[in-house]
Amino acid sequence: MDVSQSRQLHNLALVGFMGTGKTSVGQFLARMLHFRLVDTDDLIERRAGKPISAIFAEGGETRFRELECAVVGELSRYRRTVIATGGGLVTNPANMASLKTHALVVCLWASPEMIWRRVRHQSHRPLLNTPDPLATIRNLLSERERFYREADVLIGTDVRSVKAVALQVAHQFRMAQANHAIREE
Ligand code: S3P
Repeated sequence: MDVSQSRQLHNLALVGFMGTGKTSVGQFLARMLHFRLVDTDDLIERRAGKPISAIFAEGGETRFRELECAVVGELSRYRRTVIATGGGLVTNPANMASLKTHALVVCLWASPEMIWRRVRHQSHRPLLNTPDPLATIRNLLSERERFYREADVLIGTDVRSVKAVALQVAHQFRMAQANHAIREE
């Protein structure tokens, strides 16, 4: 992890594919760090006044990504916040760059099979409403891998509990903040 001096680490952003545990890990982390938790999908739904599924149905993925990008712009004003992001948010390099100006960016990673096991009983993700969702997960994950690898820290979640992942993320965050403070002295 190389967090340059010009960066601020006010917040902690969790990125990664659907079903990697961003929301559950985020809830745990927020309690541990005494931070607020925000979820970019919730912010988008509030701004748009409709659920993600309706945004996709009416304006397609393009409209959803526009709203997502606008929400990312707002996040730079946040302090002491754990930000759980939508799985495709960092496929726009401008979004990743924006997050990095105010947050440590941690990517949660999981195998396609584990992701499928975690999301198979849920139906609120338009991108997985396909005839073969596991194949969709495999394809999207391999297309997106290079974007996820741009995160400051990458943590595998296949064999770790939510608590173990949260502890690992908190440790990385504290180390990054300490290193940053030393370099600023
Ligand atoms: C998406 C992931 C979803 C949500 C939208 C698109 C994606 O968020 O933003 O359905 O492109 O991977 P979660 O990762 O929280 O499921």
